[in-house]
Amino acid sequence: MLPPYVLPTAAAPRLAPRVSLSAVSPAVRVANAVPRRGWQIGWLAALCGWGRGQRAVAAPKKVVKIHSVDQEVEIPKAKVDTPVAKSLEKFTYPTRWPYGERDFFRLDRSDDAEFYAEPKLVKHLDDQTLKVLTEFYAVVFPKDREFSALDVCSSWISHYPQTPKPVRLAITGMNAEELKANVQATDWTVQDLNLDPKLPYGDAEFDVVTNTVSVDYLTKPLEVFREVGRVLRPGGLAVVAFSNRCFLSKLVAIWSVGDPDDRVEVAANYFHFADCFKDAEAVDLSPPNADPLFVVTAVRK
Ligand SMILES: C[S@@+](CC[C@H](N)C(=O)[O-])C[C@H]1O[C@@H](n2cnc3c(N)ncnc32)[C@H](O)[C@@H]1O
Repeated sequence: MLPPYVLPTAAAPRLAPRVSLSAVSPAVRVANAVPRRGWQIGWLAALCGWGRGQRAVAAPKKVVKIHSVDQEVEIPKAKVDTPVAKSLEKFTYPTRWPYGERDFFRLDRSDDAEFYAEPKLVKHLDDQTLKVLTEFYAVVFPKDREFSALDVCSSWISHYPQTPKPVRLAITGMNAEELKANVQATDWTVQDLNLDPKLPYGDAEFDVVTNTVSVDYLTKPLEVFREVGRVLRPGGLAVVAFSNRCFLSKLVAIWSVGDPDDRVEVAANYFHFADCFKDAEAVDLSPPNADPLFVVTAVRK
């Protein structure tokens, strides 16, 4: 059972024209822009044997690189030309925390423990999308040394690769049965972060902290992100991954408006105002014909 509500990903009407989320890579767009008579020229060229073995117009491929644990890494499947991919390039952070209480209102304000009382032993995204997330982790996790990881807002599955594998994977979430069923975890804690954002770990205990398709349910994100910064060692990496599926009744208001690139900016603000991270970076990993996948990362100062 996938979460039933899907946030729109098509760009909402805007005053200024914007590239749509379905924008394709520059190489494809160049190919699409070949004039209509191009096929005739191409056919003639082929007949005469000109340009054998050459592709006509190929735009140089841009490579997406982000900062990871103590190094910069190349992200092979990242899109280069979508609004999410470009969202933080020219983003100007506000001078003050831009959100108010109402931004974290939810339709269902009852105790989260009630909503998560029954275990949800389900996948929250398509297999194809989850595979891309696992591949992303395999690229950004440290490979040359032992490392410890924490998965906050976790469940029975953390989507971590077999290698590199953390020596310790601590997880926190809402349902004990879900957490117990997580075979990758080495230790787990049930904790409602909307009631108590203080993480039950020491300072600088982890090299990596992940949060998958859950940031949209946090009503005290600033406190939680500060805690994530506290338990990360300097140079450690925080990864927030999200898509467009959600349990609508538990979604915070700020997450229900705008487009995916707007949500990237919200996540970047969470990191920025936690005041212990370097600038956040955004990656669009959305696979074709599957749930989209957006990742915002930041390295601990
Ligand atoms: C859509 S599920 C994602 C679970 C898991 N991260 C995954 O990728 O499958 C949302 C998760 O957010 C967590 N969550 C929701 N509200 C929470 C809260 N108030 N405090 C802590 N965790 C919460 C729950 O553990 C729940 O499993």
